Amino acid sequence: MKMHVLTLFPEMFTAVTGSILGRAQEKGILEFQFINIRDFSKDKHKKADDYTFGGGPGLLMLAEPIFGALSHLGMEKSKAEREHVHKKLLYMSPRGKVLNQKKIETLAQEEEITILCGHYEGVDQRVLDYWEMEEVSIGDYVLTGGELAAMVLMDSVARLVPGVLPREGSAMEESIYSGLLEYPQYTKPREFCGMEVPEVLLGGNHKQIYLWRFEKALRLTKAVRPDLLEAFLRNREDFTKDERKVLEKVLK
Ligand code: ADE
Repeated sequence: MKMHVLTLFPEMFTAVTGSILGRAQEKGILEFQFINIRDFSKDKHKKADDYTFGGGPGLLMLAEPIFGALSHLGMEKSKAEREHVHKKLLYMSPRGKVLNQKKIETLAQEEEITILCGHYEGVDQRVLDYWEMEEVSIGDYVLTGGELAAMVLMDSVARLVPGVLPREGSAMEESIYSGLLEYPQYTKPREFCGMEVPEVLLGGNHKQIYLWRFEKALRLTKAVRPDLLEAFLRNREDFTKDERKVLEKVLK
């Protein structure tokens, strides 16, 4: 999968190209390209922003350098054309739809994702209109720019691309996929600071371990994210007899 990022701060992205995503690039599974929008400014001072018409605080990113960068990439103008070739063009913004695991799974199917990072007060609206950009938020709070948001998206999408994670399948086992929060996990030693690993996990009875984890995941989700638990119960009815017993115990 190719990921292109249009930003005024390409140096920030060394944070994602280190570690796992960097290794995936070396293996040829992922390909990153970071484009400095300023390089496409026609201004002699390489200006990429200016004051907003109508007044208001802060600066807005100019349309022209962004158009230049997208044209350089050979970007298709319309959403429909891009859909045809499995490409996405996203603009990170607190105004967008909030990202969730389902959306990440859809994005992981694309061949190419291009992400525009806004800074200051954002970008000239004509950029978003002309290129039919999809706005994506990572949560209901405001960052100083889209770069950190883009990295969150890139990391969460990349780990679903086959071959990126060292152990195939480890992304799919996590319980956010089943709709519940993840149960507690333990590693060596068996006892640490007087705290023991739960006995059931040491026994090797897979069914008992599964049911213990299921109960923990249910209890945690009930306490922290009752909205997720409600959706989980609405979407699933194929519980085994044992799972049903655990459910009754937790829900009563
Ligand atoms: N840029 C600034 N805040 C953001 C957010 N919450 N999500 C995505 N992009 C942003």
